[in-house]
Amino acid sequence: MIRLSVNINKIATLRNARGGNIPNVLEAAINAQKYGAQGITVHPRPDERHIRYSDVYDIKPHITTEFNIEGYPSDRFMQLVLDVKPHQVTLVPDPPDAITSNAGWDTKKHKKFLTEIVQTLKANGIRPSIFVDADLEMIKHAADTGTIRIELYTEPYAKLFPIDKWKAVEPFVKAAEYAKKIGLELNAGHDLNLQNLNFLARQIPYLKEVSIGHALISDSIYLGFENTIQLYRRQLEWNVPNVD
Ligand code: PXP
Repeated sequence: MIRLSVNINKIATLRNARGGNIPNVLEAAINAQKYGAQGITVHPRPDERHIRYSDVYDIKPHITTEFNIEGYPSDRFMQLVLDVKPHQVTLVPDPPDAITSNAGWDTKKHKKFLTEIVQTLKANGIRPSIFVDADLEMIKHAADTGTIRIELYTEPYAKLFPIDKWKAVEPFVKAAEYAKKIGLELNAGHDLNLQNLNFLARQIPYLKEVSIGHALISDSIYLGFENTIQLYRRQLEWNVPNVD
């Protein structure tokens, strides 16, 4: 089973556009789980322009599924995750002013830093996941840090998918097979949507989790939040071999 973790950052972006508390981020997290999300993802950025650090503390007691916090492991971020103790922390290399994550880690260059962070997370009972491109060398160096999982950065897949889906998925299947062979668990995320998700899930059925935000929250404007979550769940289940 590939779990669907719903990234609720965009709900916070909408709330912050007006001040006040509409839409309510905590309510969105609770409802997403009620509607079938198997995890909640948040990505607090240093400027708190969408999810605020305080949201993360507020949401934690209401998580009945899996809580995934993404972010660059600054001192402040590490303090937050060690306080909140989510199930998983996904380490991303974003500079503070990035609009969104736009590359995986250079795990060779930052191996020492990442190794220390990974050890700290593991010592505190938090599963580390490192965001990487579908690049075998980067995956190998990620494994050297002792991380349990990696998250494949799927934007290149999503971009090429409408033109040539087989060509788009090929490097991801290769990367996933290699990661599996060297003992890493696998997540995937970025720009996944109702069009490209099922194909990826069928080619890489041993993915553990996908985290999806932008397209899912956008779809729910038209299709409704509950219906949209169910539609995404179906993409992960329809004709996907049952591999653990
Ligand atoms: N994974 C990571 C590491 C991310 O930074 C993001 C965006 O916050 C996502 C997944 C989700 O991407 P999208 O919003 O395009 O679904």
